[in-house]
Amino acid sequence: MCGIVGAVAQRDVSEILVEGLQRLEYRGYDSAGVAILDEQGNLGRARRVGKVKQLRNALTEQPLSGGTGIAHTRWATHGEPSERNAHPHLSCDDIAVVHNGIIENHVELRSMLQGLGYVFASDTDTEVIAHLVHHELKSADSLLAAVQVTVKQLHGAYGTVVVDRRQPERLVVARSGSPLVIGYGVGEHFVASDQLALLPVTRRFAFLEEGDVAEVTRREVNIFDIDGNAVERDITESNVSHDAGDKGQYRHYMMKEIHEQPMALQRTLDGRLANGKVIDEAFGENAAQLLSKVKHVQIIACGTSYHAGMTARYWLEQHANVSCNVEIASEFRYRRSHVFPDSLLVTISQSGETADTLAALRLAKEMGYMASLTICNVPGSSLVRESDMAYMMKAGAEIGVASTKAFTVQLAALAMLTGAIGAYNGMSADTQAQLVQSLQALPSKVEQTLALNDDIEALAEDFADKQHALFLGRGDQYPIAMEGALKLKEISYIHAEAYASGELKHGPLALIDADMPVIVVAPNNELLEKLHSNVEEVRARGGLMYVFADVDAKFESDDTMKVIPVPHCDEFIAPIIYTLPLQLLSYYVALIKGTDVDQPRNLAKSVTVE
Ligand code: M6R
Repeated sequence: MCGIVGAVAQRDVSEILVEGLQRLEYRGYDSAGVAILDEQGNLGRARRVGKVKQLRNALTEQPLSGGTGIAHTRWATHGEPSERNAHPHLSCDDIAVVHNGIIENHVELRSMLQGLGYVFASDTDTEVIAHLVHHELKSADSLLAAVQVTVKQLHGAYGTVVVDRRQPERLVVARSGSPLVIGYGVGEHFVASDQLALLPVTRRFAFLEEGDVAEVTRREVNIFDIDGNAVERDITESNVSHDAGDKGQYRHYMMKEIHEQPMALQRTLDGRLANGKVIDEAFGENAAQLLSKVKHVQIIACGTSYHAGMTARYWLEQHANVSCNVEIASEFRYRRSHVFPDSLLVTISQSGETADTLAALRLAKEMGYMASLTICNVPGSSLVRESDMAYMMKAGAEIGVASTKAFTVQLAALAMLTGAIGAYNGMSADTQAQLVQSLQALPSKVEQTLALNDDIEALAEDFADKQHALFLGRGDQYPIAMEGALKLKEISYIHAEAYASGELKHGPLALIDADMPVIVVAPNNELLEKLHSNVEEVRARGGLMYVFADVDAKFESDDTMKVIPVPHCDEFIAPIIYTLPLQLLSYYVALIKGTDVDQPRNLAKSVTVE
C-alpha cells in the first residue's frame, strides 16, 4: 500500500528519497512522486505513473536537489492512478504533502476549502490536507501549529508529512491509523512509513504513536501527543538486516523467501523450547500468568494469516483442549459477537498494520476479552504495541506480496501456542515432548521438502493454459488447501478454489472435467482412507489430479493422477510441510505465465486501509 519517505539533511536528499521509495516498492503501488525544497527556497516536484524506475528516469532528465524533501508511492483509493493524483500534493506552491490512509470527511472539507477560494488539482482526499494546512498557516505561528490544528479537523486515517517552502529545513509529520517512523541520523533526520526504507541511512528509529505530531529538523525531533503535550518516544536500534531488501541469488523475493524458510523457522524456535516444553515467555514477559487461565481462544486475521488461524483451530481444540473460533477481521469488526469466559484474543499478522485486524483488536479490547496476544513479524508495529502479549515471529522482512515464510512461521508459532496452552489444560507431558520434538525437526524437514523444487517446476507446465483449479484437503490440511488456492490466484491470476474434500459431492463435483486440475494434499493421517474415497470420486468424473502425498500414503501415478511424494513427517507439522510444494507450484506457474510475481496486479503487501 502507499509508502512515505522524508528527509531533512545538509546533503542533497533526492537519492535517499528515491532509494527509500524503491525499498518500499514491495508494498504495492501505482504511481510515485517526490517534492524537494532547494537552497533558493523553490519547491520542485516530479511525479510519474508506474514504477519508481520511471520517476528515477524523470529525475535523471530533470534533476531536483535540496536538503529537505518528501516522497511517496501511491496505491489509488480516491481518484484513478494518474500523474495528477500522484503525491506529493501542493497548495499554492508553498505547501507539499504526502499521505497514507483515507480522509473520510474529504468531501465536506473540499467544499469548505473551495468556498475559501482554493482550487483543487486532483481527485484525491489527500489534497484537502495541503490546502487546510495552507489555510491554517494564515493564523498559526508555525507549520507545527498549523498541522496540529489541521489534523483535529480530519476524520479517518493518516500518516502524513508536510513541507512548507517558507519554513525550510523542517518536516512536520502526523500519525493516526497509518504508521510512521522517525529515523535518527547524525545532523540529519528522516521519516518513513516503514523502517526498511531508511536502513541505508540509519538504524535508530522511534515509532510515532496514535495522535502524535512531530516537528523534524536536521538537529531536533520534537514530538507532541494527541493533547499537544511534549513527549519522548523510545529510540530503538533496528536489527533488521540492511540487505533484507535484496534478492540475493534469486530472481524474485518470493523464491528467496520460500528458501529462507528453514532459517526463519530455526530463528523463531531458538530459545523458545526447552526440556520438552514450550517456554511461556515466548509470548511475552508475563505470559504464563495469562496463558494458564485460557479456556477459549478467538483468532482474528486476514488472508494468509487467517489460514494460519484456521489451522490452529484444529490444533488447539484437538491437543490443547480449549475451544477456538477463527474469524476474518473485516467480518468480526462489523458484527455483534459474544465473548466466552476466560477468552484469549489472538491476532495474527505479518505486518502488524493490517487495518481490519487492528480495528478488530481495538474493538475486542472494549468487549471484555481476558487478554490479547498478537503473533506478528514486525517489531514496533501497531498490533505489537497495542496487544497485551506479543509473539515476535522473527521470519525476517517479507517483501514478496505473496506471503510464504511468514505463513509457515505463523504456523510454528501457533503450534507453540497450542503446546503452551495445552500444558495448562491436560496435555500430557509425552504429547508436549512430541510436539517440541517435531518442531525441532522442522527446519531440516522443510529443507528436505524444498528439494522437490525441480519436480514441481516440471509440473507447473500443466497449469499454464488452465483457467481454473480446485484444491482439496481434509482436517488441518483444509486450510492448507485454501492457502494453496490463494497463492495460485494471487500471483498467477488463475481462478482457484479450495474445498474440504468431504464437501465435494455437495456441489463442486459438478465442475470436474478434463480442464479442471485438482490438487490434493494427502499426508498419512487418520483421514487418509476418507481422502482416498474423495480422490476416486474425482477420478470417476474424468478429473486430472495432482496429489502431494506422504511416501507411505499408497497413491500411485497413472493416466489420471500425478503423485508427488512428500517426505514423511510427524502429523503435527504436516500442515507446514504440505504448504511448501503449493508455494513452489504457484511460483512456477506464475513464472511461466509471466506475471509480476512479487507485486501482483491490484494487490498491496500491507493493507493499511479498509
Ligand atoms: O500483514 P498481514 O498478515 O495482516 O496481511 C494479511 C493479508 O493481507 C495477507 O496475508 C495477504 O492475504 C497476502 N498477500 C497473501 O499472500
